[in-house]
Amino acid sequence: MAILPIRPQVGPVLGIESSCDETATAVLDASGRVLAEAVHSQETEHAPFGGVVPEIAARAHLAVLPRQVAQVMARAGLGFADLGAVAASTGPGLIGGLIVGSQVAKGIALAHRLPFVAVNHLEAHALTARLPGLVPDGAPFPYLLLLVSGGHCQCLAVEGVGQYTRLGGTIDDAAGEAFDKVAKLLGLGWPGGPALERLATSGDAARHDFPRPLMRRAGCDFSFSGLKTAVARAVAKYPPGALPTDAAADIAASFQRAVAEVLADRAGNAMATMRVRDPQARLLVVAGGVAANGAVRAALTREAAARGFAMVAPPVRFCTDNAVMVAWAGQERLRLGWTDAPDFAPRPRWPLDSDGMFRGTA
Ligand code: KG4
Ligand code: ZN
Repeated sequence: MAILPIRPQVGPVLGIESSCDETATAVLDASGRVLAEAVHSQETEHAPFGGVVPEIAARAHLAVLPRQVAQVMARAGLGFADLGAVAASTGPGLIGGLIVGSQVAKGIALAHRLPFVAVNHLEAHALTARLPGLVPDGAPFPYLLLLVSGGHCQCLAVEGVGQYTRLGGTIDDAAGEAFDKVAKLLGLGWPGGPALERLATSGDAARHDFPRPLMRRAGCDFSFSGLKTAVARAVAKYPPGALPTDAAADIAASFQRAVAEVLADRAGNAMATMRVRDPQARLLVVAGGVAANGAVRAALTREAAARGFAMVAPPVRFCTDNAVMVAWAGQERLRLGWTDAPDFAPRPRWPLDSDGMFRGTA
C-alpha cells in the first residue's frame, strides 16, 4: 500500500500521555493555548497494591484513552483533520502504557496524514515552564530544571529544545519514592506524598535529627535510602500498629524537613554549576509531583534567592503528569521541523542527554 505524503502544516497539536499511571489528552492551538484537556488518574486502580502495577496501568490506559481523545477533541471543537500534528510520550516509562499511547497517536497521524512527534516524557516536564503565560517573563533558555517526581530525581541544564545536560541525579530512590515509602511506614496509604505533607503540618520538624545524605558534599547527586532507613528505625521503636498520631506527625515533619534541606542543598550546587556553564542563567524551574510540597518549595525558593536565581514551580496540575506538557513539547519540536517516523519504537529507558534528542527521526 502506498503511504500518502505527510501534510506539513503548523496548527493545533494533540498530545497524549500514558507513560505511568495518568492517562491524559490535550489539544493546544498553534500559539500554545490550551483548547481542551483531560487527565484520568489511575490511583484507585493501583492503591490496593501500594504502587503502580504495570499490567493494570496498560489495561487502564487502553480502556480510557480512545474515549478520552474523542471527548477532548469534541471539547476543543476540532476534527482530526484540523490538527497540525499528533504527539505522544514515547518514553521513558512503563512499556505497556507507552505502546498504548503511541499506537493511538500514530494511528490518528497515519489516518489523517499528520506528522507524528515522539516526545520524551522528561523533555515534556523540562519544557513545561515555556508554556505561554506560565512564567511571568517567560522561560528563555538556558535554565536549570529540578525534576522531582515518583520516578525521577535529577538536575538538568536546559539549554535548548533537545539540548539537555544532566548535572546530577539520584543514586538510589527518587524523592517522591522516598515520600511514598515513608508514608507507607507511617500507614498513610499510596501515593503518600500529599498525606505525609498533611500529617507533617501538626508535627515538630525538630524532633528527629534524621540524616541528610550527601548534604554539603560536592556535586548534584541525590540519595534518600539512608534517610528512609533512619525513619524505619524511628518507627520500629513502637510496637507494630501502635505508633501514636503525634509521634507519626513528628516523624513526618522531621523527614519532610530533611528532604527539603537535601533538595535545596543539591539544587544549590546545581545552580553554582549552571552559572559556570551558562553565566546568563537566572531561573530554577521545579517540576514533578514533589514540587507540590510547600516545605520543598519554600526551601528551594530561599536557596534560589540566595544564589541570585528566581524559582518557579508551574501550577501543580502542570507539575504532575499531564498531556498539556506533551502537546507543548510536540509544538516546540514541530516548530523546528523535528518529527518522527511512524515506526519510532517506544523506549522504556530514554535519558534526556542521549543521542537523537537534538532532532526528529522522520
Ligand atoms: O510527577 P508525578 O505525579 O508522577 C510521577 O512520578 O511521574 O509525581 C508523583 C510523586 C509521588 O511520589 C507523590 O507521593 C509525590 O509525587 N507527591 C508529593 C506531594 N504530592 C505528590 N510528595 C510530597 N509532597 C506532596 N505534596
Ligand atoms: Zn512525569
